[in-house]
Amino acid sequence: MKLTILGGGGFRVPLVYRALLADHAEGRVTRVTLHDVDADRLAAIGGVLAEQARTVPDAPAVSVTTDLDEALRGADFVFSAVRVGGLAGRAADERVALAEGVLGQETVGAGGIAYGLRTVPVALDIARRVARVAPDAWVINFTNPAGLVTEAMSRVLGDRVIGICDSPVGLGRRVARVLGADPGDAWFDYVGLNHLGWLRGVRVAGRDELPRLLADTEALGSFEEGRLFGADWIRSLGAIPNEYLHYYYFNREAVRAYRGAGRTRGAYLRDQQAAFYGAPSLDSWHATLAEREATYMAANRAAAGAGDRAEQDLEPGGYEQVALALMRAVARDERATLILNVRNRTTLSVLDADAVVEVPCLVDANGAHPVSVAPLPHHAVGLVAAVKAAEREVLAAAESGSRETAVKAFALHPLVDSVSVARRLLDAYAREHPELGHLV
Ligand code: G6P
Ligand code: MN
Repeated sequence: MKLTILGGGGFRVPLVYRALLADHAEGRVTRVTLHDVDADRLAAIGGVLAEQARTVPDAPAVSVTTDLDEALRGADFVFSAVRVGGLAGRAADERVALAEGVLGQETVGAGGIAYGLRTVPVALDIARRVARVAPDAWVINFTNPAGLVTEAMSRVLGDRVIGICDSPVGLGRRVARVLGADPGDAWFDYVGLNHLGWLRGVRVAGRDELPRLLADTEALGSFEEGRLFGADWIRSLGAIPNEYLHYYYFNREAVRAYRGAGRTRGAYLRDQQAAFYGAPSLDSWHATLAEREATYMAANRAAAGAGDRAEQDLEPGGYEQVALALMRAVARDERATLILNVRNRTTLSVLDADAVVEVPCLVDANGAHPVSVAPLPHHAVGLVAAVKAAEREVLAAAESGSRETAVKAFALHPLVDSVSVARRLLDAYAREHPELGHLV
């Protein structure tokens, strides 16, 4: 089984390789090809992987290349985890929006729209190359904004591309722990778009255990989402929001905290990773990762008075586990239930069949099949429909190169409060990002 990782010089690639090293079952990945446009980063991560493999006799063989077609040839699975413009690009996405007084974040609000505008053309190009060189491969998309990018790629690859994220599993794991349930025994009724979903029920042995948690103020105060949103608001919603909904429900506080932080998250990571790539080793990778995990959403937690992250949340084990579980289920035809980004079909009646949504899916050798879910309440319908509308304008602008359409993408986003702001955002982003220059 051959796995190709696009963005193979990326900082989180050793997490994926660590998960592969622990897999000794039949049908596992035996060959990994890392592809990146940056040969130095490839060499750095290649070195870390070699250190990781040193004590593992049946470690998957690793090769590296900067040639995309060569990387894709013979791949059974392709992980796409690229960052167009690097962390400097992300820092600019965040800084420009915050300077206008609106949210600048990697995937949410104006920052997410700018990132989407830059990333969709690259993702489409990758999808076309996969269709040509490795038409039987399954593509697992981690590239953010993951829902939007998966939808772009699905226009070329259909259901052969599946988007993943670790935030729904993280939420499920935390809630199960508080309820004293084994996450493996629970059915999580989690629905929405990527970074915009709600956990509405946790069924164990035929009973919904979530009402028990909603009634318990102390238990709600004992985990990340409970502390970010507060017991009262969670009870008002009757569901537990994905942590990214903090940017919507507490937008002013989040914007204020982000503006006051001095450096954006992207700028912090840019500087942190420059140090790591300057002298890469497995030890410094561990240390860098630990710092990164400890500071995740620090400004939001400060704004909410939520305190530090819980000890258990500092151990990463999210997205690479989802990716591995997905590959196993497909490669070995072993039924699994995973929350994934797939085309809607008829799952959410508010959206059309081709809209990519994030919902529980049954996975087997034929891919990911979304399961039927209860309808969204009106407040969630509103947000999901508005954000999907903005995403559709991003896809249209990437295709047409039209300025009006790009302005519409910013202006229709619920976290951008004025059309004039949208116009100024586009102009400022085009100055920062040469690849957006054709839009103005
Ligand atoms: C979560 C999200 C990812 C995101 C990651 C890292 O895990 O699901 O989509 O890339 O956080 O965030 P950071 O701010 O540390 O880059
Ligand atoms: Mn994510």
